Amino acid sequence: MKKISLLGSTGSIGVNTLDVVERYPENFQICALSAGSNVELFAQQIRKFKPALAALFDISKIDALKELVADLDVEIVSGQEGAVSAASYSDADLVVSGVVGSAGLLPALAALRAGKNLALANKETLVIAGELVLKEAECTNTKIIPIDSEHSAIFQALNGESPERIKKIILTASGGPFRTFSLKEMENVTVKEALNHPNWSMGAKITIDSSTMMNKGLEYIEAKWLFGVDTNVEVIVHAQSIIHSMIEFVDTSIMAQLGIPDMRVPIAYALTYPDRFVSELPSLDLATMGNLTFEAPDLVRFPCLQLAMDAMEMGQTMPAVLNAANEIAVQAFLDELIPYKDISEIIRMAMHNHRPVELKELQDVLDADLWAREEATKLITVTH
Ligand SMILES: NC(=O)c1ccc[n+]([C@@H]2O[C@H](COP(=O)([O-])OP(=O)(O)OC[C@H]3O[C@@H](n4cnc5c(N)ncnc54)[C@H](OP(=O)(O)O)[C@@H]3O)[C@@H](O)[C@H]2O)c1
Repeated sequence: MKKISLLGSTGSIGVNTLDVVERYPENFQICALSAGSNVELFAQQIRKFKPALAALFDISKIDALKELVADLDVEIVSGQEGAVSAASYSDADLVVSGVVGSAGLLPALAALRAGKNLALANKETLVIAGELVLKEAECTNTKIIPIDSEHSAIFQALNGESPERIKKIILTASGGPFRTFSLKEMENVTVKEALNHPNWSMGAKITIDSSTMMNKGLEYIEAKWLFGVDTNVEVIVHAQSIIHSMIEFVDTSIMAQLGIPDMRVPIAYALTYPDRFVSELPSLDLATMGNLTFEAPDLVRFPCLQLAMDAMEMGQTMPAVLNAANEIAVQAFLDELIPYKDISEIIRMAMHNHRPVELKELQDVLDADLWAREEATKLITVTH
């Protein structure tokens, strides 16, 4: 029985993870859960999966949660400290992080520090502090198993091969809902249009990131940290989201991982790794797929992808600034405070105004994250 601590249980990754856990009751058990502020769903999950520990980030809702689960034998904790307690819960064999944004960093570090293997969906953790996170995993001899479908694909394609044999990683991208839009058409897209992803059903932030291709930019950085910073990573637009990514090896052979676009597949792989369990999910029916298409990404229409590649190239605190400015700009777009085209502009200006410093310790990341949030907020206020 593998005991799992699930962080971000009320989100899209969280709900899908619980769906996988439920399918294999003899193999998995939930020992700790954490969520942000959705107390109603969180209380239902606590009732159903009976964790020993439940952590709610939003302190203002803790009394409401306690009331909803008053009849249950569960320890309730709150705030950042609570999230860290869930991440380092002593019984856990595996910690799954489905938290969104840089809020995932401290719990991820706490999990690794406590010697837990980490199944990671929260890409922002590696984007902002890749080096520190990898160092922690190395010190504690723990594994980071990617859940992001692209990185799971690369992880699976690499199975048994040495990373030195990689010629390049080919990261596939759906291109999002505006893949065929002109720059002019993209100027005035609405929140509703941007939230309408053609292939995947996900949380709001990553869905907007997919539409701007910032998601692919964050994944580009994530791939560099997971599979080698000097590894060549190429992005290719593959609208059908059937090939989840590929590796070209030094002998020019290419290994690809294919499957239906359903996050329960990479989540199940991360939970069962290094094993594979029989799945009841539908198989990919290639005969009905028709054509699989590929095209180069357009960095003019999707400047966020270029900004992310530049941030990785600049290194130091720049990826943390890119990520935080993006989080603020995306939220401002969702709140209808800025037009769609200004998301990339806010990030570009925040990066331009930042003086990167070397990432020596966690505080350097936290300082850069805070600086970029304040800077992006200021830019939004001044320009709108
Ligand atoms: N969704 C996907 O299919 C997918 C695929 C690949 C990678 N990812 C990555 O996985 C992560 C989660 O994505 P998602 O789509 O599942 O997001 P989501 O649906 O927005 O869910 C985010 C989760 O994080 C929780 N949360 C938010 N702020 C928190 C905080 N300060 N402390 C603790 N928990 C907090 C939320 O809680 P409340 O809802 O209770 O506030 C929720 O449970 C992202 O990094 C994303 O890039 C997602």
